[in-house]
Amino acid sequence: MTEEYCRTAQWLNGLVGLTGIDVHHGDVTRLPFPDAAFTAVFSQHVQMNVADKPALYHEAHRVLAPGGRLAIWDITAGTPGPLDHPLPWADRPAHSHLISADDLRATVESAGFTVRRWTDHTDTAATVMQAFLAQPPNPLGLHTFVPAFTDEGGQPRPRPRRWAPAGHPGGRDRLITHRGT
Ligand SMILES: C[S@@+](CC[C@H](N)C(=O)[O-])C[C@H]1O[C@@H](n2cnc3c(N)ncnc32)[C@H](O)[C@@H]1O
Repeated sequence: MTEEYCRTAQWLNGLVGLTGIDVHHGDVTRLPFPDAAFTAVFSQHVQMNVADKPALYHEAHRVLAPGGRLAIWDITAGTPGPLDHPLPWADRPAHSHLISADDLRATVESAGFTVRRWTDHTDTAATVMQAFLAQPPNPLGLHTFVPAFTDEGGQPRPRPRRWAPAGHPGGRDRLITHRGT
């Protein structure tokens, strides 16, 4: 994440009247906040880009006050095997650190959390993806931001087969909620 990304977030918040939200630039494995500073931590689709997951969840636990909650909405590895890049979160293998749902849960628990709720939304996500893949390319799709998603003529590339939800190849969407201890 960059400073520019944070400035853009603040600008977008202002456009829709979301005031009172502070945006901080930092590394999730070394959060720039004191211990027990928050009652809730939420993370959506970030951990698959983070190699040091123990540090990520240790930091989430550290900044939560006793009784605080961690909620994550995330992608985990489905069927084993190599993935076809580019992926929505990584244009090359070095940027992807996907692990199985069981390993993710174990990592979260090792950081000191107790899992209160763990929901597998793979089937729903697969249905949504099937509908998405059936649509013609969106002019504002990922190819707008990720060069590897366009061909030499600047047109969106055909989607890799391993994105297709049949067999849940790319990963699983899960909503899991934890309470800090
Ligand atoms: C796949 S994007 C998801 C963005 C957003 N959460 C969403 O759901 O649309 C992953 C984000 O995690 C950020 N990220 C990856 N590693 C990080 C780290 N160590 N510290 C802070 N942010 C990180 C990336 O910059 C990127 O913005």
